[in-house]
Parts: sequence; structure tokens; C-alpha cells
Amino acid sequence: MRYCLLLAGLSRLSRAYAQDDCHAGELQLLQRKLDLETSVASSTEPLVLPQLRAAEPIKWLHIPKCGTSFLNALIHLPSVCPGVNASYRVDDKVLGKHFEEEFFRECPEVCNTSKFNCDYGHHEGIGTSYEMELKGHLVTMLREPKQRILSAFHDPVWTHGVAGESAASYAEKQRGGMTCQVMRDGDMDPPPKECHELTEADARLAAVRLREGFAFVGITDEWDLSICLLHRIFGGDCLLSDFEDNRPSVEGAKHYHIYNILELEGYEDPVDRILYNEAKQIFFEKRLAYNATPACKTSDSGFGL
Ligand SMILES: *[C@@H]1O[C@H](CO)[C@@H](O)[C@H](O)[C@H]1NC(C)=O
Ligand SMILES: *[C@@H]1O[C@H](CO)[C@@H](O)[C@H](O)[C@H]1NC(C)=O
Repeated sequence: MRYCLLLAGLSRLSRAYAQDDCHAGELQLLQRKLDLETSVASSTEPLVLPQLRAAEPIKWLHIPKCGTSFLNALIHLPSVCPGVNASYRVDDKVLGKHFEEEFFRECPEVCNTSKFNCDYGHHEGIGTSYEMELKGHLVTMLREPKQRILSAFHDPVWTHGVAGESAASYAEKQRGGMTCQVMRDGDMDPPPKECHELTEADARLAAVRLREGFAFVGITDEWDLSICLLHRIFGGDCLLSDFEDNRPSVEGAKHYHIYNILELEGYEDPVDRILYNEAKQIFFEKRLAYNATPACKTSDSGFGL
């Protein structure tokens, strides 16, 4: 069972704007089932909004620990991946343990490559591809910097460069990781040493890229609202898989897990903090502009990262 509800604690202002536009997924599934059963194939092309058209081919910037599940929401956007049906999910049940890698292998067959960028960079940085290739086509989720690091440190499946040290000394190795992925080339999981040299000036350049070059910026810490905003901007219905956590931080976790930052012994990351603050600001502005105040939620599966 799934339903939409307003997030508790919405401000009065946002209540005034509230519009439930994220409820249609289940109905649409039923409709498709009916269509199939009665062999009435729908001939109507899905509506593609101009914002989506302008962002194509969409390039997902996958920052480590910011929600692999976001991929599910992207591939179900209208007509982006014609070979993907509503029950197709990028998770271990459908595609096995290395589901992300497996998806990108299938990507050129199931997605339209002029609408979705199927180059598998895993956690590759944008770096020099920005101006000529990726500007305007990027979409991403960012996460609160300390939570992101702790999530990597405690990851039960992948190591992310953890080598038996304390959370605080691991955090030092991750310093500036999100900024580095926006500004530099190469694999960022774990970030190479050169990332540690980034300054607050680099973070401000990364913030400009975020504002000018990204068609969508979400916040992992506000998953439901991010998904609703995504659909407000690009269209399409919310699906259950938009909210599935295909990589729970904690086995069986049903909710977004908040780590105890005391483990970081006072660690601060002023570089990534600048970038994250800009992401939050962009997110806030877009939420207002698109009236994306309602959130779809699932009553049975919840979500967590
Ligand atoms: C969805 O697609 C998969 C293959 O990608 C197929 O196995 C499955 O039967 C399809 N489901 C429906 C309901 O069409
Ligand atoms: C892929 O998208 C392009 C651009 O929108 C379109 O012209 C083309 O027909 C699509 N190809 C397929 C196989 O759907």
C-alpha cells in the first residue's frame, strides 16, 4: 500500500501551496495492468516537459553515499528509458549484487542514449568534461558532509577506502570529497590525495557549477521532497521504486539513518560545507518555485540510506 501525505511539520506557508501531485503511481500501474489484460495498448506518447528535454541526455553524478536509489527515479522519467517498465528496478532482486554495474551494461539497450547518458563512470568526477559535454545535463543528490562520511565509514558492504582507522581519521581522508568530484577528474571512491588540497575558493567554483550546470540538485537528507521536486521539474509519476533504498546503510533499515557525529571528534569540512550549503539553497529556491511541498511516502517500505 502506498499513499501520499504531507510531511509532518511543513510550515504554514508551504501548506498554503500544498498540492498533491505525487499520488498517481499506483493508479497508473493498475491502469497499465488493465491495458495489458484487455490488450488495449496505449498509443499516447508520454508527455515530455521542456525542462526534461533541455536536460537530455541526463548525466547522473553519483557521489558516494548519496543514494544509488536515485537512479531508479531517473530511468523512470517519461520516455527516457523506453525499455524499462514500472516493475524494473535497479536493485539486487532484479539485477543481482552488482546491480549498478549491471544496469549500465544494459543501459544502451533499455535507455535512449540521446536522453540518458549511459557512460558508466561509477564515482567519476566531472572535472574537464564540464564545459564541453556535461554542463546543463547533470543531475545529482548531495548529502550532509558528516553524515556522508559516517555512512561510508559504516558501510556494511563496500569499504570506501576504510582501512581500520577511527572515524575521525577516516574523515580526514574524505575531506572535500564532494567538491572534488564536481571539480576534478578520476574516480572519487575514495577521493585521491589531490582532493585534500582543495580550498574554499574551489568550493565556490563548484557551487557555481552546481547552480549553472545542474538541471536538478536534490538532498539525500530530504529524500521524499527531493523525489517530489524531481517530478515537479521533469514530470512523471512517483513510483514505489523512487523510495526504495537499494543500499541500506544498516541491514534492513527502514528509515534514513542518522549517525552520531560525536564519532568524528569535532572534525569539520569547511570546503564541502560550502558546496552543501549551496545545494540546500538551490533546493530551497526550486522547492518554492515549483511548489514542491508535498511528499510521496510509502507506508510499508519506508526508506533509509
Ligand atoms: C518488465 O520488464 C522485464 C524485463 O526487463 C520483464 O521480465 C517483465 O516481465 C516486465 N514486466 C511487465 C509487467 O511487463
Ligand atoms: C531517442 O530519442 C531521440 C531524441 O528525442 C528520438 O529522435 C529517437 O527517436 C529516440 N529513439 C528511440 C529508439 O526511441
